[in-house]
Amino acid sequence: MEFAPAKINLALHITGRRADGYHLLESLAVFTRFGDRIELRADQQDSLTVSGPYAPGVPADETNLVLKARDALRAAAPGMATPPVAIRLEKNLPMASGIGGGSSDAAATLRALVRFWNLDIGHDALLRIGAALGADLPMCLAARPLVARGAGEDLSTVDGFPPLGLVLVNPGVGIATPAVFAALSQRENASLPPLPRHFDFHTIRNWLETTRNDLEGPAQSIEPSVGAARAALERAGAGFARMSGSGATCFGLFETGNVAKRAAAAIRSRHPGWFVAATRSTPSGDAHGQA
Ligand code: C5P
Repeated sequence: MEFAPAKINLALHITGRRADGYHLLESLAVFTRFGDRIELRADQQDSLTVSGPYAPGVPADETNLVLKARDALRAAAPGMATPPVAIRLEKNLPMASGIGGGSSDAAATLRALVRFWNLDIGHDALLRIGAALGADLPMCLAARPLVARGAGEDLSTVDGFPPLGLVLVNPGVGIATPAVFAALSQRENASLPPLPRHFDFHTIRNWLETTRNDLEGPAQSIEPSVGAARAALERAGAGFARMSGSGATCFGLFETGNVAKRAAAAIRSRHPGWFVAATRSTPSGDAHGQA
């Protein structure tokens, strides 16, 4: 089993735009112990089956990033044996929700298939294959606390980052990432401020107060319920709350996992139709958020 953790952009500054239209960004991202799962099995022919609470609506055809990852890896391994494989995807993360579900699934597929096929492909080559599939793929391949720059492919891992108590809230809506970027009016914003020298709940929260998610305003203009999700986290006692990625999922920061669980229960009872998950982020040095 390969774990595909949720990706949380704790801060996301848009710093410019490349000639091809992709945006330059700086983001502090962490990964959680909550996520999707990928399982592989040798079979007579290739296949993909999708199960789990968020399976409905997930395509099981070639448009799924999991199969694009499989095909890209095969293409990058000419002359190596890549026999048919049955892939099972357990979908626990809502789609198009800013927490990297599809990208993390594809990254987990790449990691798992390299082992399954016993391929002689190095980590850098895997990062290049990933980057060609999507801007969030490289960071999802790393799946540890990091700062991503460029269009998301330039990664610096962050040492000494503790596990954080988190609650993830999605108000039951998906938002298409290109629409959010298209709604962005200001594109030359400041870099991230220097990271704290020592990380704990308080230094992280204070640092976050000096940062932004530049995609939150545009996402909220497309989908006003982003504001309701963030407000619900604040009302439930989050030390800090913000939207992740291009939304609509918001995260709340809590001092301990138990406080996060109580807050999640309170939000769930007020908003039974929403996706609400209490979890912890994976600390530095603990790869792939393996539960
Ligand atoms: O790379 P990915 O397929 O995840 O990106 C989806 C869309 O989001 C892109 O087509 C682009 O419109 C926008 N995007 C961007 N700059 C980034 C990442 C994504 O403009 N760094």
